[in-house]
Amino acid sequence: MTSILVTGGAGFIGSNYVRGLAASRPELTVVNVDALTYSGNLENLAGVLDTPRHRFIRADIADAQALERALAGIEFDQVVHFAAESHVDRSIEDAGAFLRTNVLGTQVLIDLARRRGVKRFVHVSTDEVYGALGATGLFSESTPLAPNSPYAASKAASDLLVRAAIHTHGFPALITRCSNNYGPYQFPEKLIPLMVSNALEGKPLPVYGDGMQVRDWIHVDDHCAGIECVRERGRIGEVYNLGGGNERANIEVVRGILAATGKPESLIKYVADRPGHDRRYAIDASKAKAELGWSPTVGFEEGLRRTLAWYVDNREWWSRIKSGVYRDYYARHYAHRVGEEAS
Ligand code: NAD
Ligand code: DAU
Repeated sequence: MTSILVTGGAGFIGSNYVRGLAASRPELTVVNVDALTYSGNLENLAGVLDTPRHRFIRADIADAQALERALAGIEFDQVVHFAAESHVDRSIEDAGAFLRTNVLGTQVLIDLARRRGVKRFVHVSTDEVYGALGATGLFSESTPLAPNSPYAASKAASDLLVRAAIHTHGFPALITRCSNNYGPYQFPEKLIPLMVSNALEGKPLPVYGDGMQVRDWIHVDDHCAGIECVRERGRIGEVYNLGGGNERANIEVVRGILAATGKPESLIKYVADRPGHDRRYAIDASKAKAELGWSPTVGFEEGLRRTLAWYVDNREWWSRIKSGVYRDYYARHYAHRVGEEAS
């Protein structure tokens, strides 16, 4: 029986991935390692937490000794590495945790995986390592790395550490670089869940700058399916871009959310732009499509409708988050932006 070590499996994408495996892969067992930082939440694992094929272990991937102790005697053949600090705005405020988890933590995992002789290591990365696009063009796997935020730079550094391990040690790793995800259990600091939850609460929707920045949206189920294709069939040593092919300007997304929730556009509040804000991301996923037979299946309008319904039905989940320590970050971050409001 194949056993997969999943890191960051209590976060947004990791928990969707683990739930998907539990539903569709009876032949697999999962060891889920997560430090439960502000964005990790055991509630995200409802339905899988206390099941025989899933074992949760709280551990910090950047603490080599503690991780080794936590995994002593536990066997796994493959690794899917999601654990990271993931929010660009927080990296602008303080990059420390990003370097620790994303850079050091990835090297710790590579070392551990090498000692354990794992057969496949999937490193989950991001399109942000490529920097920003102008009005045209797409990121391909050969686009040079040009990260613009501390978050993106820390992810690019982790990609390079994985690359170096492949080159130097013949480490059996693969890298995925995906565009913006949305779907259930996404922490409400990210654009879509923040705007949906603020709209449902009748609060202002803070749009950075002119709102014309473009992101290429992909439903989290499609991203997880892509990771599974890469884990099962990807060629070791290769990078695979994954993207939804759904380019939308932020303001279009925000207007769509207001229309769908029946809230007025007067809730839109233009605020100071994110420093160094990347203008446009868009993915060329033709390599994954041609080699692995993967394709995204969820259209953006349908995916957004389903996501909205999830946030309506799971108000308790996000209300609890928004009333906890996250409230302090929110107050600090947006008070400062409104003070510097865009004209
Ligand atoms: P998230 O912030 O929701 O989840 C991150 C998880 O990692 C949390 O459960 C957290 O507790 C855990 N974690 C953080 N530091 C840790 C540490 N030191 N040790 C162990 N666990 C730790 O993030 P997400 O949006 O689910 O992103 C998951 C991965 O996917 C990240 O590597 C991110 O770079 C990548 N990615 C995200 C997107 C996106 O749109 N969200 C797109 C492409 C790639
Ligand atoms: O592209 C993949 C990346 O997508 C992932 O690697 C990151 O982990 C993930 O956080 C995401 O990064 P972004 O910075 O694109 O996502 P975010 O949801 O923070 O912002 C999306 C866009 O919306 C971006 O242009 C900034 C804008 N925005 C965001 C917030 C939180 C606003 O206008 N207002 C806001 O309040």
